[in-house]
Amino acid sequence: MPTLLITGANRGIGLELTKRYATDGWTVIAACREPQSATALKAIRGITVEALDVTDYAAVDKLAQTYDGTAIDLLLNNAGIYGNRDGALKVSDFDIYLEVLRVNSVAPMKLALAFLPHLKAAQNRSGGGAKIATISSRMGSIEQGSGGSYAYRASKAAINAGMHNLALDLKSSNIACITLHPGWVKTDMGGSGADIDVGTSAAGLKKVIDSLTLKDTGKFYNYDGGEIPW
Ligand SMILES: NC(=O)c1ccc[n+]([C@@H]2O[C@H](COP(=O)([O-])OP(=O)(O)OC[C@H]3O[C@@H](n4cnc5c(N)ncnc54)[C@H](OP(=O)(O)O)[C@@H]3O)[C@@H](O)[C@H]2O)c1
Repeated sequence: MPTLLITGANRGIGLELTKRYATDGWTVIAACREPQSATALKAIRGITVEALDVTDYAAVDKLAQTYDGTAIDLLLNNAGIYGNRDGALKVSDFDIYLEVLRVNSVAPMKLALAFLPHLKAAQNRSGGGAKIATISSRMGSIEQGSGGSYAYRASKAAINAGMHNLALDLKSSNIACITLHPGWVKTDMGGSGADIDVGTSAAGLKKVIDSLTLKDTGKFYNYDGGEIPW
């Protein structure tokens, strides 16, 4: 069966995606910051849970070494933070702004590059090629911007650009690379007033990711399969 590496797997959208890939029989490496308190994650049968703070780039390299020689078919960069919910013309803390960029923009690139050998090892398995799927946000769409939330919007625009660039560079290696908007989802980040539940979001994301081919690499998808403008 194919192998998935997913970050931020202990709650929210990441937990739901992990459950669904495990149910489908994938070999799942589920990374989270604090495995000791990840009760729901550890209750999923047959997966491997790894400790990883995605901003600890040395730890990312160490995890890549741990899995040296393991083919990874899908890297799913899910971990993310919102930072401060700043309104118009306001950034309340620039240290938090930088942390949002470290988690949402830099870490997915670091993971992609650290695990490139593992993805390349899977590129010709099961015909489909390896994939990098990164959970971004519609809020990173410059065309659909509406002000405020500077750090979050900038971080998701940055990862959209980074992953688009990577898609161009990895096409010849048969590795497809996309970013996805999960919808406005009822999680700790999305809040209880959000539009959809995690099941609806994860089902849609998984369908888009599973049907991805190299033809669609470099695109920015909504969870329902529609394309989102940059
Ligand atoms: N919910 C929405 O409406 C919505 C909309 C658009 C995009 N998104 C994106 O969807 C993704 C998942 O969001 P969610 O709604 O499921 O959020 P969530 O419930 O707040 O979960 C966020 C996850 O990211 C992990 N995380 C945060 N910082 C991390 C770090 N430094 N290292 C490792 N893991 C870290 C958290 O781990 P801890 O438990 O250790 O904090 C948690 O597992 C994010 O990228 C988010 O930006 C969500």
